[in-house]
Amino acid sequence: MFNESYVLNNGVSIPKLGLGTWQMREGKCLTAVSNALAMGYRHIDTAEAYKNEMEVGIAVRASALPREEIFITTKLDSSVKDYEKAKEYIEESLHVLGLDYIDLMIIHSPQPWTEVNVSDYRYPEGNVAAYKALEDYYKAGKIRAIGVSNFRIEDLENILAHCEVVPAVNQILCHISNTPLELIEYCQQKGILIEAYSPIAHGEILQNEKIAAMAKKYKVSVARLCIRYCLQLGAVALPKASSRDHLSENDDLHFTISAEDMQILKDFEPIRDYGESSRFPAFGGRKLEY
Ligand SMILES: NC(=O)c1ccc[n+]([C@@H]2O[C@H](COP(=O)([O-])OP(=O)(O)OC[C@H]3O[C@@H](n4cnc5c(N)ncnc54)[C@H](OP(=O)(O)O)[C@@H]3O)[C@@H](O)[C@H]2O)c1
Repeated sequence: MFNESYVLNNGVSIPKLGLGTWQMREGKCLTAVSNALAMGYRHIDTAEAYKNEMEVGIAVRASALPREEIFITTKLDSSVKDYEKAKEYIEESLHVLGLDYIDLMIIHSPQPWTEVNVSDYRYPEGNVAAYKALEDYYKAGKIRAIGVSNFRIEDLENILAHCEVVPAVNQILCHISNTPLELIEYCQQKGILIEAYSPIAHGEILQNEKIAAMAKKYKVSVARLCIRYCLQLGAVALPKASSRDHLSENDDLHFTISAEDMQILKDFEPIRDYGESSRFPAFGGRKLEY
């Protein structure tokens, strides 16, 4: 799967499978990304908020792979909703990563994390201002593609109406039992590639008996079924995996889920309540910054 790519709406190739790095810090990120690159992964997903951009950059440089063979995504912090501050954060990401350019940079969330599930205000002007900073770095060749994350249709319409560059991606929570089909269809119609984050539902789906039964039918693990499901939706899949075993297993995706089973998985009952006003989980009332 490492060699398979989608083509973004600006012609840039993006590997279908990427490694998620949320909650990897203090050496764990460096180890996992180094192992992943050695095993053939060519797409790494980080964020300013993960505080591991430096480890990602070190792993990329230490790999001795040609820079153009690796696709690095990072995210503009969710709190940044003005043009000048966005430019400072983009500069900081370039500096901390230690790279000449970023392959994909996206607005992490339309709302600052502190306001998710708390406020209905969607920051239309702030998101346009932040996106315009991304556009300027894109035009300057410092970022090869720009996009958004956690954007609903209304948030995307705001960007499409007031900005020049159509977002290349919308990175969203998307896994079996939580598939936002209307949003996916909207993005696909607009040429915006979906990136599925938390494709294994943060690991929580691993214990689900019905999913385990379907995985058994295909003679694959639950994790592999989950990742393959996202790819068959036409999305990039971004599983996070720390161990070599998991990294290796998650690339083994050459099987096909039937159309009937895809429909069952799309309709699968929620395994977790993500809250009413948003698709963001509030774990036991505690907000996550991801
Ligand atoms: N844009 C956003 O707002 C946003 C939000 C959340 C996540 N993301 C991105 O999406 C990535 C993935 O999401 P996530 O970290 O929430 O969760 P995830 O990928 O759905 O699940 C990760 C969990 O699954 C386990 N796992 C991975 N491969 C496995 C395998 N083959 N067998 C058994 N267990 C396996 C991992 O364990 P080990 O670590 O022990 O391998 C970890 O506990 C993040 O790292 C981040 O890059 C983006």
